[in-house]
Amino acid sequence: MANNPQPARRTHPPRSALGIDIGGTGIKGAPVDLVHGTLLEDRFRLDTPQPATPSAVADVVGQVAKHFDWTGPVGITYPGVVSSGVIRTAANMDPAWIGSVAADVLGPPLSSDTSPVVVNDADAAGLAEMTHGAGRGQSGVVLMLTFGTGIGSALFLDGKLLPNTELGHLEIRGKDAERRASAKVREDKELSWEEWAGRVQEYLEHVEALFSPDLVIMGGGVSKHPDKFLPYLSLRAHIVAAEMANNAGIIGAALAAGSHAHHA
Ligand code: BGC
Repeated sequence: MANNPQPARRTHPPRSALGIDIGGTGIKGAPVDLVHGTLLEDRFRLDTPQPATPSAVADVVGQVAKHFDWTGPVGITYPGVVSSGVIRTAANMDPAWIGSVAADVLGPPLSSDTSPVVVNDADAAGLAEMTHGAGRGQSGVVLMLTFGTGIGSALFLDGKLLPNTELGHLEIRGKDAERRASAKVREDKELSWEEWAGRVQEYLEHVEALFSPDLVIMGGGVSKHPDKFLPYLSLRAHIVAAEMANNAGIIGAALAAGSHAHHA
């Protein structure tokens, strides 16, 4: 044995991981305490480069990791379908992403000893809320929606995620739902909260007719002001605001990396 040392095997799950959230307008990250689902340091944010090509985005992701001198596990969100590590869509990103192997694009600029785990942004946010936030301990069908540049969705049955549901692209009045009811649309069209909530209500009724969730968690930046829109929303399902606001993506990405490192 002494002459043939084996690399140490990880027997405990890692206690921290770096989470990086790639969004349509910003790329933000922070080291995350995986046991409590909290940020270990202030998050660091840089603008998403335009056009958001794979190499330009990878460069910014590398700068975020470097800011924290991070060498441990890294989880990264991507705002599109990520299926078995391959990027399949790019609604709010450069189309050059489609077909690329996420870890091959985003791994090289990191000085991490492991390859990054890349997941859909809303799936990551949902994972964070189900583990440490508004969905903690919730059984049945839970739907997390994120309202930002687009609309993201994460669907859970008894705490288990069905990835890449992409419910922001359901068609409402002949349009992609996220082009009618994302947070960006509210800002671009200068809609009042009540006007915006009316559009969201129409969207939620459509989603409820298809999936009959028990609980809907409203996430994204808007979840910081639940009093502005929750009073206008009403479904059979219970509707609550996310608890982690814009940090859910960072925390969920880190959780995904942590569980991957443990099971690898
Ligand atoms: C993308 C989703 C993403 C959502 C929120 C949509 O345009 O298709 O994958 O989760 O935006 O960023």
